[in-house]
Amino acid sequence: MAFTRRGFIKVIGTGSVIVGASAYGFATTRTPEKALAPWDLAGSKIYSDPRMRALSYAILAPNPHNRQPWKVDLRPSDEVILYCDLERLLPETDPPNRQITIGLGCFLELLRMAAAHEGIKAVVTPFPDGAGEDFLDARPVARIRFLAGEATPDPLFRHVMQRRSLKEPFDMQRPVSASLLEEIALSVDDTVQVGTTNTAKNLEDFRDLSWRAWLIETMTPRTMQESVDLMRIGKSEINANPDGIDLGGAFLEGLSLLGQLDRKQLADQKSVAFQQGIDMYKAMMLSAMGYVWLGTETNTRVDQLRSGANWLRVNLKATSKGLGIHPISQALQEYPEMSALYEELHSKLDISLNGNFGPRVQMFARVGYGPTLDKTPRWKIETRVL
Ligand SMILES: Cc1cc2nc3c(=O)[nH]c(=O)nc-3n(C[C@H](O)[C@H](O)[C@H](O)COP(=O)(O)O)c2cc1C
Repeated sequence: MAFTRRGFIKVIGTGSVIVGASAYGFATTRTPEKALAPWDLAGSKIYSDPRMRALSYAILAPNPHNRQPWKVDLRPSDEVILYCDLERLLPETDPPNRQITIGLGCFLELLRMAAAHEGIKAVVTPFPDGAGEDFLDARPVARIRFLAGEATPDPLFRHVMQRRSLKEPFDMQRPVSASLLEEIALSVDDTVQVGTTNTAKNLEDFRDLSWRAWLIETMTPRTMQESVDLMRIGKSEINANPDGIDLGGAFLEGLSLLGQLDRKQLADQKSVAFQQGIDMYKAMMLSAMGYVWLGTETNTRVDQLRSGANWLRVNLKATSKGLGIHPISQALQEYPEMSALYEELHSKLDISLNGNFGPRVQMFARVGYGPTLDKTPRWKIETRVL
């Protein structure tokens, strides 16, 4: 089915929204209020349509590179039709659109939870007109029917506003217990497989593997360039395009404030900014205190949506326990330079790859505590309605 994109209907005038700068950790003058407004508007009574209220939460979902590739059609009454915005794919690091589909699964689960919070059952039919298994296409990703008065709230929903993908080094003095990892694993349903570890040998192996995988993505110019193109430098860029990657770290922020940072330097392997990025990520990768992963028996689009739904649950459960969790997907990416590490990770997790649609790991994340758990939410795009 083809459809015409009618442009975005702005749901709310963002000028009227006041965001407390200190709550978000930016210096007052640098707070990208417009880009953070969706966090304050989630569930707001300004939305008279319950679908819009549920969507105002769903848009806060985790997703790769924060591309937020969702757009919705609200024309059929009591239904939401979800599409993937095909202009928001990641062709270099996610050639088969697998990670993008997982992000759409996160969105759907958050939509379901937000509706259930109001007693509405959101019945999701995935890919009602079939799915592009090689690449996503213009067909709907899901049709969601809203049935009033038929749902029980989900206890995990209460942690939505605190949920983050925590991109910080973890405290290596603070172990993560096996019982906590088991509790987190119990948050998934039986459509996916879940694994966790905190043993010294596995920490050593996976720290090393994930660091090597990160370096491959970073030192491969075309995959690195995809990230660089999505880096938002400074408040006006963030407000203009509230998606993509944040430039963490005081040093890089400082350079950007001084106007000393540009995309060319970020992509230049010899620049100070590039080296700084490497140091920051090395500290993150090598400080993992545990790992959580999700896998599926096959690798269909529906498996990927289910992985996303369950990833959201894992992320919320970790949040509820004060545990930082950070997806690290490099070794799961499907491009030639990564294939040896892709196989190495699967074999270390005792998964034998079996063709394109065989069993595979869908999400792999490091976990740990602080030391300074970042409270800053990532910027989000307002609901985009057809
Ligand atoms: C399928 C998937 C893959 C992801 N892979 C990575 C990754 O490799 N590295 C990373 O730093 N974050 C990764 N993330 C986290 C996203 O960057 C994060 O969800 C996004 O920036 C929005 O931030 P938030 O989750 O804090 O709202 C991934 C998320 C998803 C859903």
